[in-house]
Amino acid sequence: MDSELIQALADGEFHSGETLGNVLGISRAAVWKRIEQLASVGVDVERVRGRGYRIPGGVSLLERSRLQQGLASIMSVDVLQSTDSTNAEVMRRLAVNSPAPLAILAEHQSAGRGRRGRSWSSPYAGNIYLSVGWRFPVGAPRLEGLSLAVGVVVAEALSANGLAGRVALKWPNDIWVHGRKIGGILIELSGDLEDACSAVVGIGINGRLGSGAAQSIDQPWTDIYTELGDMPDRSALAIDLLKRLYDMMSGFPLDGFGSWMARWAALDALAGQSVQVVTASGAVSGTATGVDSSGALRLCTDGGAEMLFHGGEASLRPASMGIKGKE
Ligand code: BTN
Repeated sequence: MDSELIQALADGEFHSGETLGNVLGISRAAVWKRIEQLASVGVDVERVRGRGYRIPGGVSLLERSRLQQGLASIMSVDVLQSTDSTNAEVMRRLAVNSPAPLAILAEHQSAGRGRRGRSWSSPYAGNIYLSVGWRFPVGAPRLEGLSLAVGVVVAEALSANGLAGRVALKWPNDIWVHGRKIGGILIELSGDLEDACSAVVGIGINGRLGSGAAQSIDQPWTDIYTELGDMPDRSALAIDLLKRLYDMMSGFPLDGFGSWMARWAALDALAGQSVQVVTASGAVSGTATGVDSSGALRLCTDGGAEMLFHGGEASLRPASMGIKGKE
């Protein structure tokens, strides 16, 4: 990643090709080439004839030492310029017995993973991509509802960092602002699922998505930049989020999702609304009526039956999106 060029453009002001060339000690043609490379990893660089290049709004990179110091007493932290997927990187580190909990953050993911086998758009230096590796002394059944509790933690962290009153959760764990997705969660378990297992909790938050990356997203989306008109301090947000995550995950094996249910319900975007639940065997329409103590979705079907759905098997959408609407 071209952190030298990014730093030269970080202030959001215009810089001529000549000035950039002088700063970097390269020709104007070489500057242009490196600008093209930035664009290819999703950085929006604007070029205006006679004025030069700029990154509208500027950019600030994640600060490794600030993150490490801020979290030193609770987990080890690494910040990478680029990786395939922070979830995959944490899994690799857990597999070679790295001490846990550990957090990996990246400025860019070349193969970011979403739920249900989808990809997660991961342009450079605008968003948050982080994963936490955790070894639990309990098996997977005791972790039911963990991903919903993570959703609460992310929503509360965003609320505390400028988005109060705007953040909601769409079951099982999409983070929404006014019906548009601003973040998502992917949890991957490994080890002995009946006894002691490891969890990788992956969180993606749109800080500033950029026009190129946004084109590949097939559902309504938003980002912090759009909502607040300013770039978030991503390091501060990540530190706050990781502290909250640590507190929640330390207590989860004992507390379970039951103790998070009320907080989840307070953020439920679709409670009482007409929805469709899509499963492998088809779509069921009804009214969403919240979640139970395991995190399963309660649906009162149009036929009047009560049904429960678990996160791995179903996805939810508001009925207003119609049958062709995306998840
Ligand atoms: C979703 O589909 O809503 C879940 C998206 C999860 C994305 C995050 S970004 C950090 C971590 N690394 C990945 O490859 N995926 C998760």
